[in-house]
Amino acid sequence: MRRYSRIAGTGSYLPPRRVTNDELAAELARRGVETSDEWIVERTGIHARHFAAPEVTSSDLALQAARQALEAAGCAAQDIDLIVVATSTPDMVFPSTATILQHKLGVSNGCPAFDVQAVCSGFVYALTVADAMVQTGAARCALVVGAEVFSRILDFSDRTTCVLFGDGAGAVVLKASDTPGILASDLHADGQHVGLLCVPGHVSGGAILGDPLLKMDGQAVFKLAVGVLEKTAHATLQKAGMSESEVDWLVPHQANIRIMQSTARRLHLPMDRVVVTVGEHGNTSAASIPLALDHAVRAGQIKPGQNVLLEGVGGGFTWGSLLLKM
Ligand code: UT7
Repeated sequence: MRRYSRIAGTGSYLPPRRVTNDELAAELARRGVETSDEWIVERTGIHARHFAAPEVTSSDLALQAARQALEAAGCAAQDIDLIVVATSTPDMVFPSTATILQHKLGVSNGCPAFDVQAVCSGFVYALTVADAMVQTGAARCALVVGAEVFSRILDFSDRTTCVLFGDGAGAVVLKASDTPGILASDLHADGQHVGLLCVPGHVSGGAILGDPLLKMDGQAVFKLAVGVLEKTAHATLQKAGMSESEVDWLVPHQANIRIMQSTARRLHLPMDRVVVTVGEHGNTSAASIPLALDHAVRAGQIKPGQNVLLEGVGGGFTWGSLLLKM
């Protein structure tokens, strides 16, 4: 009998400090940077984002989201036999944020724990890897987390990027199951676009070499994103032998409402079947899909048995999608 993986529980966490567009605009004005609530809402759909306190790390946010997901799944931390964390803002250069999370959760059973680095596609990548490990029997109860503190890598003198991102975490518990579960997925990368969205700095000889803040060519990313999101959605649906009309919910990466609207149009999905949370947390990179998924599950929108299509796109360039039955 084929073995599948199935989402048994979801969780998420936003740090308590909520910064509205007006508050951010006032803060930026003090630095001589001009922006407005009107511009941000019109161009992105973002109303507010959450920023973590300076001492709070990605693993701290991941811990809160993971505990919620474990509770929802009815699992104890010791039941976990695989931890995968998607993040581009790890606590340390090494070890992985996943091992730090493992220790904070009190998981002492020696299970594998590692990070996946695919920027805003990170959660789709991480879920695909965890699903494959469950399918082969390498894991039976996997914790998959997206966690970010993007506020640490924002250039607050660059209004074209600093208004877009926020901090947060989302998590799912994946369990082995005789019934699906995750139905199909599709992952891609194209390294020729590394420079479009990157943090070029790195640690070298005890110092940071290069700029350690986020750089993005927003328009180029926008154009690429819309095209690849449509293609990967169709590829995943084809692998699952399903059509657009069978998708109950689209949970896209929460970067920009205009990208989500455009993707939904191309997939012939009405916006009332698209989960949109970007307004409340901005772009939280690898955390945005599990944050949106958990929000929709807890709001009673996404129900057991429904078909949910997740889609991510971001730095690398990376993109991918994953279809699952809740
Ligand atoms: O998570 C990974 C994926 N990332 C993304 O999906 C991001 C994709 N890109 C985008 O979402 C959009 O390109 C942005 C939201 C980043 C920008 O929206 P846009 O409609 O492409 O705006 P634009 O770059 O064409 O800028 C329009 C104008 C410019 O002024 P001029 O040249 O027309 O005078 C900008 O300087 O808006 C100006 N502008 C701003 N004005 C006020 C740029 N940022 C701001 C700002 N406040 N924060």
